[in-house]
Amino acid sequence: MSNPVSLSVHGPVAVITMDKPPVNSLGAALRAGIADALDQANANAAVRAIVLTGTARAFSAGADVTEFGTPNAAREPNLRVVISMLEDSPKPVVGAIAGQCLGGGLELAMGCHFRVASADANLGLPEVKLGLLPGAGGTQRLPRLVGLETALNMVVSGNPVAAAKLAGTALIDQIVDGDLVQGAIVFAQGVLDKGLPLRRARDLKVQDPQGQAFLQFARNTVGAMSKNFPAPMKCLEAVAASLNKPFDEGVRVEREGFLSLMASPESRALRHVFAAERAAAKIPDLPADTTLRNIAKVGVIGAGTMGGGITMNFLNVGMPVVLLEMKQEALDKGLATIRRNYENTMKKGKLKPEQVEQRMALVTGTLSYDAFVDADLVIEAVFENMDVKQSVFETLDRVCKPGAILASNTSYLNIDRIASFTKRPADVLGLHFFSPANVMRLLEVVRGAATAPDVLATSMAVAKKIKKIAIVSGVCDGFIGNRMLARYGTAAAGLINAGALPQQIDGALQKFGMAMGPFRMGDLAGLDIGWATRQRKANEAGVAFTPIVADKLCEAGRYGQKTGSGWYRYEAGKRDPIPDPVTEQLIADYRAANSITPRKISDAEVIERCIYALVNEGARILEEGIAARASDIDVAYLNGYGFPLHRGGPMLYADLAGLPNVVRALRRFAAEPGADASWQPAPLLLKLADEGKTFC
Ligand code: 3HC
Ligand code: NAI
Repeated sequence: MSNPVSLSVHGPVAVITMDKPPVNSLGAALRAGIADALDQANANAAVRAIVLTGTARAFSAGADVTEFGTPNAAREPNLRVVISMLEDSPKPVVGAIAGQCLGGGLELAMGCHFRVASADANLGLPEVKLGLLPGAGGTQRLPRLVGLETALNMVVSGNPVAAAKLAGTALIDQIVDGDLVQGAIVFAQGVLDKGLPLRRARDLKVQDPQGQAFLQFARNTVGAMSKNFPAPMKCLEAVAASLNKPFDEGVRVEREGFLSLMASPESRALRHVFAAERAAAKIPDLPADTTLRNIAKVGVIGAGTMGGGITMNFLNVGMPVVLLEMKQEALDKGLATIRRNYENTMKKGKLKPEQVEQRMALVTGTLSYDAFVDADLVIEAVFENMDVKQSVFETLDRVCKPGAILASNTSYLNIDRIASFTKRPADVLGLHFFSPANVMRLLEVVRGAATAPDVLATSMAVAKKIKKIAIVSGVCDGFIGNRMLARYGTAAAGLINAGALPQQIDGALQKFGMAMGPFRMGDLAGLDIGWATRQRKANEAGVAFTPIVADKLCEAGRYGQKTGSGWYRYEAGKRDPIPDPVTEQLIADYRAANSITPRKISDAEVIERCIYALVNEGARILEEGIAARASDIDVAYLNGYGFPLHRGGPMLYADLAGLPNVVRALRRFAAEPGADASWQPAPLLLKLADEGKTFC
């Protein structure tokens, strides 16, 4: 591997340049390269000052997160050593910062005696977002350079700040317009000319007479906001140690916090999510250089719940949309909902009135498919019914220009069948948004058997453009997310039959961290959808439809929140679920009719059954190749289904629980009399458990 660090000499100033694409993460080779270059510069008698710089994209994005847990992470010189070398350099060192300067990258910069930066350089300590704290002196040097309050905000939030905003603090000595390295050389020359003393951040003091009071206030706020995550409080305590304590003592507090967080399951989860979200964009059999189709104009069919939200995604990024409905009334209603949503955002101060108008000006309502002749991408969000989809896609096939991408937002229906309604199945795929579509980050991109590589690649790029996290799914009933959700729902329904009540199951799963329990979620989404799906499936399978408790609720007109009752009852205009004796009676009747004697069920059993049901179905989805990797499943569950972030997704949860333990539990459930066959552990799960391997 070529040396990622180069050294050049310009008169009395040596310039050390880090260039390890893409973002100068501080892996072993880069650290060693910096240390060697620094030694050389210090050994060269002609050199009197040193500039340390990176690339336009990044000074450095910090420690190499891919090295964590590998021998390279600890390989000497470690980052703390390199920073001490800079700080202890007998010749002045000037950090020249452009692009990203994050985490260990900022800690490295703070080891320099002086710093200059481009105005838009991005400086931050985002370790907290990985469940960590800055582990190379950042919690001690930053307060010494920018003051306690600014430092605490940066460390605890992890949010970066533009260099221009930090000008005037000891962190940024000068903003450079134009050539950064040239500016840094001139600055270094000035240091020499003026004979400025070396300014070591560690020698500064944190001056803040109100410091302790501020920290106490911050403890209360951070404690209340960081439920389930230990890192923010540890960040706070490390920064607190910078006040009135010697530098080395503060570093000791920081170190202990860093090591304990590195071993925490919460950090493991957040680091997994960081890698998983980036991996999801990579499609194994799709060449990275696939030529994309140009998407400038979008068509959306159906201005209901989903079509309206889907439309907003495009308007938000300045892309024009033609929105088609069957009747003027439905179109007017859909457009009015979009406007109302924007106006609500405006009332919260997050959009200006002119932005509302700009966005609304980009949407054109229509009742005629003629408006789609020049659309590059059309997304259908009409009723979930194959006959309706057939007529829509046959029409699209007739009217759309060659090369237009034709997408369906179907939740469950077979994309290959939908594609077969056209003479261009290669242009068809699923784009499955989640409700509310303008808010939820997840997008399942469903790849049909015939979907062309450039259609898939273009759709992934579109997803990025509209700020979605896209995962690719193969075709199966419910795709990745809803297929797993169905198993989770069946497991929860089984618990109801066996003796639990909706409020107990919801309570246990919410304590586990799910945003909402399955019964509250059912009431919110509408129980009639599942009722219709179960009837359809029975019909397709040619078997008699046997209603379960959820169907009995629907038969009684209880569809959930929209009818004022479902699993729970709701007071008019309120969304709080109130346990309902009517539901309990329906459940009791069902048990009696099926000769079930209810038993006591623990919260632990609720978690085991519901979450392992997800895991087992996830394993089947993996072995069938519906998902390319386990981490895609986690990305889906975290972003589309309210799975708790601190647990990293169902597949990582299973890894951490131990796959042999998951297998044992599933075997126990599968061995119960009358058990559903889907409790049998998936072959892939058995194999991994046997081989001592993990999903992620
Ligand atoms: N280590 C290793 N790889 C990294 C990295 C890091 N710190 N930061 C980014 N990358 C990789 C990404 O994985 C991605 O790889 P890929 O191309 O193979 O998918 C590539 O760089 C580009 O990243 P993004 O796709 O995220 O590009 P963006 O331009 O959208 O964002 C970024 C760039 C703002 C730097 C963003 O990647 C980021 O936030 N990175 C993490 C920064 C961070 O958390 N740093 C702290 C690390 S922990 C630390 O420093 C500990 C220390 O205190 C001891
Ligand atoms: P909806 O009932 O709110 O809206 C459907 C709209 O399509 C209605 O306004 C209707 O007038 C219009 N429509 C029906 N047939 C049409 C046709 N032939 N031409 C033009 N317009 C037509 O339904 P919703 O909830 O928006 O669902 C739409 C699709 O999105 C379905 O396939 C559904 O499975 C899927 N979906 C729904 C989610 C949800 O949470 N509601 C989540 C993800 C996907």
